[in-house]
Amino acid sequence: MQDYHDFLGEVLISEADLQKRVQELGAQISADYRGSEPLLLLCILRGGVMFLTDLIRHMTVPHMVEFMAVSSYGVGKFESSGSVRITLDLKSDIHNYHVLLVEDIIDSGNTIASVLELLSTRKPKSLEVCTLLDKAERREVFVPIRYTGFSIPNKFVFGYGLDVDEYYRNLPFIGVVDLDKFHPETT
Ligand code: IMP
Ligand code: MG
Repeated sequence: MQDYHDFLGEVLISEADLQKRVQELGAQISADYRGSEPLLLLCILRGGVMFLTDLIRHMTVPHMVEFMAVSSYGVGKFESSGSVRITLDLKSDIHNYHVLLVEDIIDSGNTIASVLELLSTRKPKSLEVCTLLDKAERREVFVPIRYTGFSIPNKFVFGYGLDVDEYYRNLPFIGVVDLDKFHPETT
């Protein structure tokens, strides 16, 4: 894998700005869900993990954490397609839970729309979406988003949980991939 400095177009959201916003979201969610029990934060693997783990440090209401994994049949490396498959489902029953989905980014909206459709059949008490990033310009299906960290332009971003070919999820900031300078490995 190339050194990310070679293809980093710009730092879109700094570590300080991410941390400040995640703290605000944690406080807001805590205020909104006070008294709403049981509360389950449901993280979509893998991109949402760093956001989730930071977010829950700022939560001041009792809650549980669960994970789900979905994969979209990609049409290309930087595009997601319409069809989504659940690759890891919940072990626990969410019936009568307040469920808050935690996502890294909503792009076309297809992934989260499929997940919402599936989960709503399981009759949770409430079902809402919290996304760190919203690429609204690319939306293909309507998604009701309760909490948004940042609205971002139509650029491919990485870091803070989001990957470039599975790498660089560890970076503490959100960067833009300069597609002219990124050379995918062809193995
Ligand atoms: P959607 O189904 O088109 O909304 O795609 C959502 C998923 O595509 C996200 O959960 C990410 O895994 C991935 N994705 C979309 N845009 C980006 C990006 O700019 N960087 C990294 N992953 C992305
Ligand atoms: Mg994701």
